[in-house]
Amino acid sequence: MKAQVNGIALAYSDKGTGLPLVFLHAFPLNLMMWAAQEAALSSQFRTITIDLRGHGESDAPLWHYTLDQTADDVHALLDHLSIQQAMLVGLSMGGYILFAFYRKYRERVKGLVLADTKAQADTPEGKEGRFQMAQTAYKKGPSAIADIMIPKLLSPATIQNKPEIVQNVRTMIEGNQISGLAGDLMAMAERPDSVPLLKQIACPTQIIVGGLDQATPPSDAKLMAEQIPGARLAIIPHAAHLANLEQPAVFNQIVAAFASELGKPARRG
Ligand code: MLT
Repeated sequence: MKAQVNGIALAYSDKGTGLPLVFLHAFPLNLMMWAAQEAALSSQFRTITIDLRGHGESDAPLWHYTLDQTADDVHALLDHLSIQQAMLVGLSMGGYILFAFYRKYRERVKGLVLADTKAQADTPEGKEGRFQMAQTAYKKGPSAIADIMIPKLLSPATIQNKPEIVQNVRTMIEGNQISGLAGDLMAMAERPDSVPLLKQIACPTQIIVGGLDQATPPSDAKLMAEQIPGARLAIIPHAAHLANLEQPAVFNQIVAAFASELGKPARRG
């Protein structure tokens, strides 16, 4: 399905009924990374997965990208779907977008799941790395980005023993347009530090991290859990950065338990 929002066509999938769960994917993937979550959770909840601006079947315009703009796209899609409040799940870049979304539209957030992400901004070296990766994308194309990213996204055991997961991730990465890759790299490099925001997050929050995640390690998850009032932390063993793909059953169970609690009617006095 596609919606026209903020001057672009945004592709999304909308399955099931009940509490809306909105899933925001990692860089440089697309909504297909949530296939196992959609399949398992749409029998209990309304699951919405989105190809963020620059990815998958959504438009990838050739110009300046910001995470605020992507948050605006998500907000416009909620309006399009007549969803007043949702639980939002963001993994890695998806989590960075949730911080931008929360800053602008906190009244639309019923709960947050921050998975394999971090609140800190990029270091100067990190920003330089984004620029270099954009040049690689421009000169060598998305398959060179897949070569660089796959060892950062998946654990060595998955890379060695689960070729179907590796191929799935490669296909998603290779489906990107250069404009979308460069645009996201620009947007992530320019994102602000969200650490000061953490103490102001007032909605129920579940943090999830793969125990083997090196891109956004458990120490980053612990920082968020310490600073967000009442946040819970789950560390998933045998998973690296794409914990939802490497350990889908455990990931789904954590998300389902959190969403079930959120969906319960508030107790009266
Ligand atoms: C992601 O998985 O979204 C990226 O690894 C995030 C990043 O590069 O900071």
